[in-house]
Amino acid sequence: MTTASTRNLLVLNGPNLNLLGTREPAIYGSSTLADVEAAAIAAASAHGWTVDCVQSNHEGDLIDAIHAARGTADGIVINPAAYSHTSVAIPDALSGVELPVVEVHLSNIHRREEFRHHSFVSAVAQAVICGAGISGYRLAVEYLIESAAPAAD
Ligand code: DQA
Repeated sequence: MTTASTRNLLVLNGPNLNLLGTREPAIYGSSTLADVEAAAIAAASAHGWTVDCVQSNHEGDLIDAIHAARGTADGIVINPAAYSHTSVAIPDALSGVELPVVEVHLSNIHRREEFRHHSFVSAVAQAVICGAGISGYRLAVEYLIESAAPAAD
């Protein structure tokens, strides 16, 4: 937990999300990763919170970012992308840092191929938002801020 003056969220995006805007726009929309991050930052700053944004195509880098959030963030918004469906290490890292987590997917993974229907991350998330596109990030940020305990003075 950070102090009252530095309440902060980590927004973490997994593999291939750096390609947003040009990657399968019929599924993922035309917003870029920069648009996604700007939406999260705007939603947080409206409440006086800050956001650190990390995107990586590498599982270990995502895990390192989760570990670094302990002591620097009050919650994590994560779109683990394809690692949602394959990684045990990412949910283990999220459990390990004991921060509230919201899992976001731009697309509705339950309307897509069967292999996307299960996410290992969902079991360690407070909430899961999928199919809301870029709005999912704003909703996740607002949920984490609204559900956070009041900051200690
Ligand atoms: C995704 C859904 C995943 O199945 C996929 O592998 C992604 C993006 C989404 O945001 O809809 O890369 O997480």
